[in-house]
Amino acid sequence: MAKIKHNRDAKRQLGQFFTPPLIAKNLLDAWVLRADMRVLEPGFGKGAFLLPLVEAFMRLRNADLAKVLNENIWGVELDKDVYTWTLAEIERRWGKLPDRHNLILGDFLDPAVLAGYENRPGDLLGSGMGFDLIIGNPPFGGTVALALQDELERRYGRRHGCKIKRESYSLFIVKSLELLKDGATLEFICSDTFLTIPTMRGLRNALMEEGATTVRRLPEFSEETKYPMVTMRHVRGKKADEIVVDGARLKVSSIRCTGNLSWQVSDDHSVLFSGGVLAEYIVASSGMTTGKNEYFVRELDDDGYFDEPYDFMFFEDLITLKRELGRARLGKMSTVKQAEIARKEQMGVTRRNVRLLSFDAPKRLRIPHPDYRYYNKAQPGLFYVPPRFVIFWKDDGDAVKTFKKNGSWYLHGVGGAPFFEREGMTWRLVSSRIDMRYLPSGYILDSGAPCAFLRDGVERDELWFILGWCASPQATMLMKSVLNHTMNIQSKDIERLPYPWWVTASDKREAIGMVKCIVEDAQRGLTVQPRELDALFGLYDFNRKRIAQVA
Ligand SMILES: C[S@@+](CC[C@H](N)C(=O)[O-])C[C@H]1O[C@@H](n2cnc3c(N)ncnc32)[C@H](O)[C@@H]1O
Repeated sequence: MAKIKHNRDAKRQLGQFFTPPLIAKNLLDAWVLRADMRVLEPGFGKGAFLLPLVEAFMRLRNADLAKVLNENIWGVELDKDVYTWTLAEIERRWGKLPDRHNLILGDFLDPAVLAGYENRPGDLLGSGMGFDLIIGNPPFGGTVALALQDELERRYGRRHGCKIKRESYSLFIVKSLELLKDGATLEFICSDTFLTIPTMRGLRNALMEEGATTVRRLPEFSEETKYPMVTMRHVRGKKADEIVVDGARLKVSSIRCTGNLSWQVSDDHSVLFSGGVLAEYIVASSGMTTGKNEYFVRELDDDGYFDEPYDFMFFEDLITLKRELGRARLGKMSTVKQAEIARKEQMGVTRRNVRLLSFDAPKRLRIPHPDYRYYNKAQPGLFYVPPRFVIFWKDDGDAVKTFKKNGSWYLHGVGGAPFFEREGMTWRLVSSRIDMRYLPSGYILDSGAPCAFLRDGVERDELWFILGWCASPQATMLMKSVLNHTMNIQSKDIERLPYPWWVTASDKREAIGMVKCIVEDAQRGLTVQPRELDALFGLYDFNRKRIAQVA
């Protein structure tokens, strides 16, 4: 059999992780197929499901391959090499392919592919279309064709009022839902991040709105990927009132208590979310990217000194159409806009830009300095860590902002600007636990360390109370099990943590006092003792008895 060669980038772009035959077989064994069923495997790869399906239908259809591939089985695959391989394998096993069949070389997401198979309720012409079973392993993290992006956004961008992420596997699921007959089943292998990841919130919502879903963890998947995987079985029908995950029945009402619509919330945990969430007290925000930290960000030494290698010079830069096209989103620009820029180019219109000139020898500077601010990059450490970075911020960051304005479209925005220099709390975006720490006022914010700030009118003591709660292992447990069990902790994830309403007023006062002390001590260079931390976190503890007493 010919070997298929692929470089790793192409594999990743296609989300190409093939299902081991035994796993596919186990899933298919649960099905009693009938000779009148229509089954689809979108993105069939090397036929993990497709080949056993052909085998099963060949038994049901008296070995008539033409009938099987015209009336029972549909498949779509984008990669020509694996497509050809799989068709050759069918021929090798069952003889020559019929002239016409439903195995399509193409992009499953392309609206033209399988057009007319959608289940449109109330549409008489469309009734009877759709599939009885859609099964497979959709590409995870695969790229979506540039040319289709706007059309896909229009068709699948929102479902039941929630946003659907423009990503291969969420779009595969949404399109598949539309291709199912009423009462039919979608059975997909997915990454387990699907259960909580906030970007798939809209997809979980759509699945709850459109039928009944059961999820099972796969004990192992394959050597190719170490991601924990699950199987998701969805039966199209009426709105669900529960989701079954590994045998546990999760009430949709409990799921809806969590802002991310978590499919990992137990009834015990859902009660914690029933008394309000941190979003009522704090507003969290990501920071900015400079586009090139080495131009603007400097590391401090222990005495507060740093080296500045550059002088920043502003100049007027000629606008050219070629450059503007290079900066445009997806390299696309309307003809009207292009004509406007071409006119500017002819007239010699300029835009202010910034240039860096190297000093002969770096300047030795010290903080505090009027042209620099502390820069809040992600750092490990609970409660407080001394500042380690500064950013060139003369004239309210004029050089950074000018540099960004002249860069590509995705650099233009300055994330978190309304919160710059405010007092709050901050944590590492990528981390296995919430390393919450105090953020004194005066910092410019980096995107790697999101921050949270008290809402207007909220008493300042809440900052210490919430800081202590977020630093606790209990908060990390809820974050990583219920809210988002990837390595990321986004601003919204922190806002979605429950507010610790179960802590009594006296325990709350004590917690506030302790957190203040811990931060002040840390600012003076003293380290907090483990038993102090235990005592503090004990104040936030929740267990059934305590919750029942307070609730
Ligand atoms: C995760 S693999 C699974 C393959 C096969 N279903 C299995 O279970 O082994 C996803 C497959 O989808 C294909 N694919 C990726 N994007 C696609 C698209 N837009 N349309 C059709 N197939 C696509 C990939 O080439 C790959 O073969």
